[in-house]
Amino acid sequence: MFSFSKTAGVLGIDIGTANVKAVQVRKSAGKTILERYGLVNVIYPTESQAKFDAVKQTAEILGQLYEKAGFTTKKVSLSVPSNVAFVSVLNFPPMPEKEMQKSVEYQAKKYIPLPISEVNIGWQILEETLLKSPHKDAIPEIKVLLTAVPRNVINNYLRVMELVGFEVAALEIESLSLIRSLVDAEAKDGILIIDIGAKSTILSYVHQGHLMATRHLTIGGDSITSSIANSMGISFERAEQMKRAVLAPNVVSPAAQISRNVVELIRSEVQQFMRMTENESNGIARIILTGGGSKMPGLAEKFSALGPKVEFGNPLAKLNFPPELENKLVMLAPQLSVACGLALRQE
Ligand SMILES: Nc1ncnc2c1ncn2[C@@H]1O[C@H](COP(=O)(O)OP(=O)(O)OP(=O)(O)O)[C@@H](O)[C@H]1O
Ligand SMILES: [Mg+2]
Repeated sequence: MFSFSKTAGVLGIDIGTANVKAVQVRKSAGKTILERYGLVNVIYPTESQAKFDAVKQTAEILGQLYEKAGFTTKKVSLSVPSNVAFVSVLNFPPMPEKEMQKSVEYQAKKYIPLPISEVNIGWQILEETLLKSPHKDAIPEIKVLLTAVPRNVINNYLRVMELVGFEVAALEIESLSLIRSLVDAEAKDGILIIDIGAKSTILSYVHQGHLMATRHLTIGGDSITSSIANSMGISFERAEQMKRAVLAPNVVSPAAQISRNVVELIRSEVQQFMRMTENESNGIARIILTGGGSKMPGLAEKFSALGPKVEFGNPLAKLNFPPELENKLVMLAPQLSVACGLALRQE
């Protein structure tokens, strides 16, 4: 007998340091329909607070979000922050897939600064290319993306999900979720995705649709808010309001100046990362901005000076949704990129 379970569909969950985001989709007639979404601001106690149990607290937050947003599926895809993962692109000569598994594990030992038994390794073949040599004929070469996430990190996420009663269908690093939601399947050019979150900024270098390198910066939207709060002697909440009110790029005010300084810091880190990608491959043709911090006014102009065309990512582009959700969704879209990418996974 066929049963059209009420729990069909998948929930993409992005546990950020400032906001937990979740997006529920359902597949229907070849389309992916965004049915419900939710975002909740999280204020974790400082780590020094003795009784703080991050796993329990996160599970409670997710349980509340589940009820509030009216989600109906318990099948979830999760992201882990790119800064806890090790990401490398390795080159191999052509070989059968079975041998590749052994070779990747062998090579992984050289690249991952933890015992292999303590990490969960994932790999995928990116492309087969011909390596040009000035002395010999072109040598075939296989590029492989290696990702490794410490098992204790994965176990913590799994404990949270078990407490909420979720069934985990997939777990991946957030750069891969971002590519799925923000990059066209046909894109061949070099792309830099800049996800400006609360505590961090993640740079993901994408070539021919594949992740080639990541970098994690410990600067984000909250760095601006904290600097404004500290230098003006005001609360974080008041500073957050001031930050968002810095509308025009040429506004002269202490808050505006602090914002510009922090953005400048991010920009110079981006510039360094771009130089590295130029040395290693074809460089970057486009920059895609996303994350809550990308809502800072004047950001696109700042990054335009780096050369590549700058655009804002649209994680809703591959999704269908009821028109009544549109206004709110569009406003929140920059913060939903990871959750949308997770929900778009084909299981
Ligand atoms: N309208 C806005 N203008 C400026 N900044 C904004 C705006 N809306 C949100 N932000 C900033 O976005 C940040 C939160 O973004 P986001 O939800 O993407 O973070 P997160 O995913 O929880 O953090 P992280 O990825 O670092 O763990 C905060 O620093 C917040 O101040
Ligand atoms: Mg984030």
